[in-house]
Amino acid sequence: MFKGKHFLKTLDFTKKELNSLIDFTGELKEKKKHGIPHPFLKGKNLALLFEKPSTRTRSAFCVAANDLGAHTDYFGQGDLHLGVKESIEDTAKVLGRMYDGIEFRGYHQKDVETLAQHANVPVWNGLTNEWHPTQMIADFYTMKENWGTFKSKTLTYVGDARNNVAHDLLITGATLGVNIRIAAPKSLQPSSEVQLQAKKIAQMNESDILITDDLQQAVYQTDALYTDVWFSMGEDQSVIEDRIKLLSPYCLNQSVIEQSANSNVIVLHCLPAFHDLNSQLSKQIYDKYGISEMEITDEVFKGAHSVIFEQSENRLHSIKAIMAVTLGDLF
Ligand code: CP
Ligand code: NVA
Repeated sequence: MFKGKHFLKTLDFTKKELNSLIDFTGELKEKKKHGIPHPFLKGKNLALLFEKPSTRTRSAFCVAANDLGAHTDYFGQGDLHLGVKESIEDTAKVLGRMYDGIEFRGYHQKDVETLAQHANVPVWNGLTNEWHPTQMIADFYTMKENWGTFKSKTLTYVGDARNNVAHDLLITGATLGVNIRIAAPKSLQPSSEVQLQAKKIAQMNESDILITDDLQQAVYQTDALYTDVWFSMGEDQSVIEDRIKLLSPYCLNQSVIEQSANSNVIVLHCLPAFHDLNSQLSKQIYDKYGISEMEITDEVFKGAHSVIFEQSENRLHSIKAIMAVTLGDLF
């Protein structure tokens, strides 16, 4: 079902395929926990290309590859001629003759699509400006791990809803039959194209979609609250002031948890998060704008509802599942 396929965006996969990746993530998590070897990619060579920084995605690909018996080479921004001194097409043809699989994190979705078109080996999207599909498998696995089912469950995303993660949650949730609500100011709501796609998909999968600037309506009796940074990698820092003004009412704080009126609500964040002053960027923002928390308060980030670090661990198991099924001889 998956062998030889690329993993570029969740839109390319059916509900059944996404569910099977989510279930396989759980199986691999169990294997790792019990020390059961799973060298499905023994002897394979993988190229990891990162035009943007990464903690979780990079380490998940490296550790997952190790556990699967594969070898990885890391190429950071400026390490390759990719798109600078030679076309992405030419680089793809070269890497595809040497490596068995290629991960790419970068700016433009069209770049990862071009790599995939010419590499002749599976290509995995480790995040672009448009989508973050490996994150989705970890996120929905984390939800299922906590809920046991997707049926009649609701996820509410609050914050900048025009970014890769919000767009992908909308599409992936609609595909899996999870109700998706988005609370964001009108100018930061998902693009009309993604809204339209999600609504069409939702109709086929018993998923309800609500996109609103009314935070209270969006969070009431939801099962999960999710937020992401107010400005994403690659965005100009000049947007920060405007984002703070627009998004401050959408901070995921204790009052939002209370407004959900659900004592079992879970809190997710893909990370990195701005929730304290222990990073260089958060200190700079504090010095300039006087705020010490942005999209999520420290109290909620560390609070009883948070499953954020389970979610980040699940990046490992889900990326392993994606690589194993597209490159290994499993089924
Ligand atoms: N969530 C996520 O993709 O994290 P990194 O940027 O650290 O890879
Ligand atoms: N929207 C964020 C996600 C980080 C994992 C970004 O693109 O920077």
